[in-house]
Amino acid sequence: MRGKVTEIVKPAVQLRNVSKSFGGNVALSPLSLTIKRGETVALVGPSGSGKTTLLNIMATIIKPDRGEVIIDGVPSQNLKPGRELSRKVGIIHQQLDLVDQLPVIHNVLAGRLGEWGICRSLLSLMIPQDKELAFKALNRVGLIDKSHQRTSRLSGGEQQRVALARLLVQRPQAVLADEPVSSLDPARAEDLLAMLTDLVREENQTLIASLHAVKYARRYFSRIVALRQGRVFFDRPVSDVSDDDLARLYDLKEDADAQALL
Ligand SMILES: Nc1ncnc2c1ncn2[C@@H]1O[C@H](COP(=O)(O)OP(=O)(O)OP(=O)(O)O)[C@@H](O)[C@H]1O
Ligand SMILES: [Mg+2]
Repeated sequence: MRGKVTEIVKPAVQLRNVSKSFGGNVALSPLSLTIKRGETVALVGPSGSGKTTLLNIMATIIKPDRGEVIIDGVPSQNLKPGRELSRKVGIIHQQLDLVDQLPVIHNVLAGRLGEWGICRSLLSLMIPQDKELAFKALNRVGLIDKSHQRTSRLSGGEQQRVALARLLVQRPQAVLADEPVSSLDPARAEDLLAMLTDLVREENQTLIASLHAVKYARRYFSRIVALRQGRVFFDRPVSDVSDDDLARLYDLKEDADAQALL
């Protein structure tokens, strides 16, 4: 008799008792978190609550003082930097890390750096390779007409979309984004979040993004993880998060404050 094949789905990202201090300042207290493949998770919480630190730990950019980080079933210390890591996690930092002087297309192609050897990567700065893939990504984010423009000439919102196209080319299993819409006006912010969440759902990727505007978390994400002083304050499906939870998280006292945020 043929045995039933049971697929064991490994969590996209798992943190076990992870902590991090900078000098004497505790950024994260021992914290555990499991994020399944395909989830869209918004990280919210007051300034200084540890969101960026947590994202950088998940991206293996900073090492926790204690605890384990497991990416797609592999302990982070066993992940080889370069190709293997870049297929598993990709991060858009708040400062985007684009090279201003280069044309847009080269910045998008930089998404392939983890996959290419160093020689090919250096070459790509002069001769665009895998152009088709990069053009497709630029088309997807609505910037095909700006492919050859110098990146510094683009608006803040357009640069956010270049960073998104770079991530599309990298195609990591888990997309991490640190305040991806912080510099955008409300309409552009909604556009970018709608695009980002559609793209990750189409590809069955996992998305973990920090946000200051909770209303976006509620509209576009499936789960909210709230941090406060380096601890998980609550962790729930979006539908179970009440205005009261959020008012407590941010210590909102006035109705006007709550209206602006929620
Ligand atoms: N490189 C660093 N050196 C020293 N302290 C740091 C460093 N990075 C973060 N911290 C401290 O760790 C704590 C958490 O910072 P973190 O940047 O993770 O917060 P955050 O939630 O992302 O805040 P924000 O919403 O303002 O971006 C803060 O107290 C911060 O001052
Ligand atoms: Mg931050």
